[in-house]
Amino acid sequence: MPIIIDASSKLQDLSTAQKQLAVAAATIGIGGAVTLIVCRWLEKPSVSKLDRCRAIIDAEKNPDNQIPNSLNKYDSRAQPNERLVTAFGINNSFTASNKVASQAFRKRAEDRLAVDKPGWVKIEKCITDTVRHELGTAIAEIDLSELAQLVAMKAIIGPLLEADTTRLDNHQELIELASQVNTQWLLSKSAYEPKPVPIRSFEQSSDLQEALEAVFPGWRNCPDTEEPENPLNYILPGYETLWRVVLRGFIEVVGRNHDAMPVWTRALGSFVANPCRQQLLMGEYPGTEELGNQNIGVSALAIAKETLRLYPPTRRIYRTFTTPAGESGEKSADIEDLHRDTGVWGDDAELFRPERWHDLAEDAYEGVGFLAFGAKPHFACPARRIFKTNDKMPFGVAMVALIIGVLSVETNGKWKMVGELEEQGVPLKTDREAYHDLKLRCVEKQE
Ligand code: HEM
Repeated sequence: MPIIIDASSKLQDLSTAQKQLAVAAATIGIGGAVTLIVCRWLEKPSVSKLDRCRAIIDAEKNPDNQIPNSLNKYDSRAQPNERLVTAFGINNSFTASNKVASQAFRKRAEDRLAVDKPGWVKIEKCITDTVRHELGTAIAEIDLSELAQLVAMKAIIGPLLEADTTRLDNHQELIELASQVNTQWLLSKSAYEPKPVPIRSFEQSSDLQEALEAVFPGWRNCPDTEEPENPLNYILPGYETLWRVVLRGFIEVVGRNHDAMPVWTRALGSFVANPCRQQLLMGEYPGTEELGNQNIGVSALAIAKETLRLYPPTRRIYRTFTTPAGESGEKSADIEDLHRDTGVWGDDAELFRPERWHDLAEDAYEGVGFLAFGAKPHFACPARRIFKTNDKMPFGVAMVALIIGVLSVETNGKWKMVGELEEQGVPLKTDREAYHDLKLRCVEKQE
């Protein structure tokens, strides 16, 4: 039986000794497939998936032919995002075609994402109150996607837009805004398929405008000297990334009968009770009576990172590459494919297994093939920032863990998930319309 090795991804992952062995095998002719593949490797060293993703994100040179990109890095990112300017009227780091404008927005976002301990306690209370209110007023069943959208929206507009998130009487308006953002997103994407048609612009989208106005009344009014800041500048990178990932994380943790579920929910519950950095990193271990993953500890951070690994909300990162001769084309860094690569993550790459993060450091990102938050040096998301002091947490992973945690705590024993899910071991669907039919059904009378 010949050994089949995929030259494009595996050989560069081999150690020097393994490579020497492979070359020796080729030299003495063991196995036709190995010989063929090793020769291909010797002729043309292939670029690993990770290097290729990083090169595309960096946008300096086309990784396929090494031709320098004539566009500056920011323009290279802004061009594929032009549809967002038309569809949502936004103007942020993703759409700015120069470094100064891009980094000015980044700085504003970064400052708002630096939430301190009292700030996290406030966010936890807001999420818990919201979930309790929705479950408490539901009649027998509740739509899970809608709940994830509502919670993600509140969790973002509090810290980023100073919205009053203690209110429980404006949930319909928030759900409507979430739904309008979703509709507009789908319309802007489908404008390219099967052939390009004009995108419905922000100005033409009266439903979206009304929904935005209902949540942020008078947002356009500001002194004549200033440009009004569109709240969607923050809602798009924040809310859009969050709701889909927490929906899938919650389904994985409580809806798929994993043996380790009690351990995971304990780790998340402890973090909800004490939302701080120390607790985010604290390992929870299975008891002797519990079926666990070989007594490996798991933290709320590991659960958040595993969710973001298997279900990265930005599945592909796009850049435009232009040659000095003016030929232009788009390339995408396939983050989802990298995150599920068995050469990088092992044979169980498609399995939700937070324990795999046990030995990995808090700052394990590019080095281990994890690009859910983009890639340094130029395009790492400010929500991944790790602070030098203990009083603040990296916003992205902390928020993912907190929302999944609150949903788990509040539904535990009282609500069950009903609807169709994939069989164990198969990743959940990733398209944004998946799981719209999934419900939480009350199994016990609420107090
Ligand atoms: C789980 C949550 C999040 C994930 C997975 C995520 C993911 C990403 C990714 C993949 C990029 C790189 C995009 C590219 O290179 O084209 C990025 C960049 C960025 N993200 Fe996030 N993001 C999250 C939350 C947020 C939040 C809450 C904000 C707040 C507004 C935010 C603001 C930004 C900004 C401003 C950039 C551009 C950074 C720069 O160009 O220097 N992100 N994010």
